[in-house]
Amino acid sequence: KKLRIAVLAGDGIGKEVMPEGIRVLEAAAKRFDLPLEMQHFDWAHCDYFAAHGQMMPDDWKAQLQGFDAILFGAVGWPATVPDHVSLWGSLLKFRREFDQYINLRPVRLFEGVPCPLAGRKPGDIDYYVVRENTEGEYTALGGIMFEGTDREMVLQEAVFTRKGADRLLKFAFDLAQSRSKKHVTLATKSNGIAISMPWWDKCAEAMAKNYPDVVLDKQHIDILTARFVLQPGRFDVVAATNLFGDILSDLGPATTGTIGLAPSANLNPERNFPSLFEPVHGSAPDIYGQNIANPIAMIWSVALMLDFLGDGKGAWRSAHDAIVDAISQTILSGPSTPDLGGQGKTPDVGKAIAERLA
Ligand code: NAI
Ligand code: MG
Repeated sequence: KKLRIAVLAGDGIGKEVMPEGIRVLEAAAKRFDLPLEMQHFDWAHCDYFAAHGQMMPDDWKAQLQGFDAILFGAVGWPATVPDHVSLWGSLLKFRREFDQYINLRPVRLFEGVPCPLAGRKPGDIDYYVVRENTEGEYTALGGIMFEGTDREMVLQEAVFTRKGADRLLKFAFDLAQSRSKKHVTLATKSNGIAISMPWWDKCAEAMAKNYPDVVLDKQHIDILTARFVLQPGRFDVVAATNLFGDILSDLGPATTGTIGLAPSANLNPERNFPSLFEPVHGSAPDIYGQNIANPIAMIWSVALMLDFLGDGKGAWRSAHDAIVDAISQTILSGPSTPDLGGQGKTPDVGKAIAERLA
């Protein structure tokens, strides 16, 4: 049986990096004999909004439901559509309605990439941020009252469920157990946020009991961000709520050079729904049209997709590893895009990586 992949390129440089992701995907599928088929969808972008007044057709969920995975470029074109409209009208619908409750972001320093942290070498920065992706601080529960008066007040609730915490923690501990360091850091703030965060601490301690060989370290989010910069070698798997994870998963990749390298996976591990794989970056209107976007974040996201589709095993795992190897060799020997100090164009990098897989 062939696994089916839905392809949505989105806006801006999403349209430039997606063809390179596909190029590498096709090369990997050929080399490792992976049974895959792709289907392209021309919606979930701001031109579609201009024509239809919404980001996606009404039956988007039915159209995508039967796929095994979604490859996504980037969405957003603030000159024509406000960001909260484009994002909530597409990507956030996918994450929530397909219950992609894990947002997984590897943070790794590659050899040959100038590290903004002084004195760091490859190997010093190699961890995962595991962000809760469906609940927490990102709710529409609340409101503004007495607006415009001297009694003006605003209330916004955060919602955490036991099921939501446990499934996030289980994923983080399973991942840590599969790695050599076997270490989980919980991003917390139980000294200041005195109800929900002590509860998270307890949930994590309870989960840790099931993993006697994994060490749990709870760190308050303020010092944790400082240590991402000062002591990145302390980290292996970092579990975080939606808000904390959002912040950490931009900070982490920033410490490893360019955002043009950072991939992400939005996972529904039970496979009740398709999972979604996308670069961390957005549509980059400032460089769109010049073909200088770095396609590596997109290509690494393809590798994460193959690893997930194959459950981390067999030819799928080999394909993942081969793509990541081809990426790191290409970073070292070029060509590279301007964000890495090179003069290569987007397709030059995609072709070089695909050729290493042939
Ligand atoms: P951005 O990630 O698009 O760009 C930030 C900076 O990084 C820009 O200077 C850009 O040129 C550079 N950059 C980004 N990707 C690059 C790549 N592959 N190669 C080289 N340089 C790269 O973030 P920004 O400017 O805040 O947002 C632009 C639009 O993208 C907005 O509409 C925003 O809402 C949307 N966005 C969408 C995301 C998604 O689809 N997941 C994530 C982040 C932003
Ligand atoms: Mg973010």
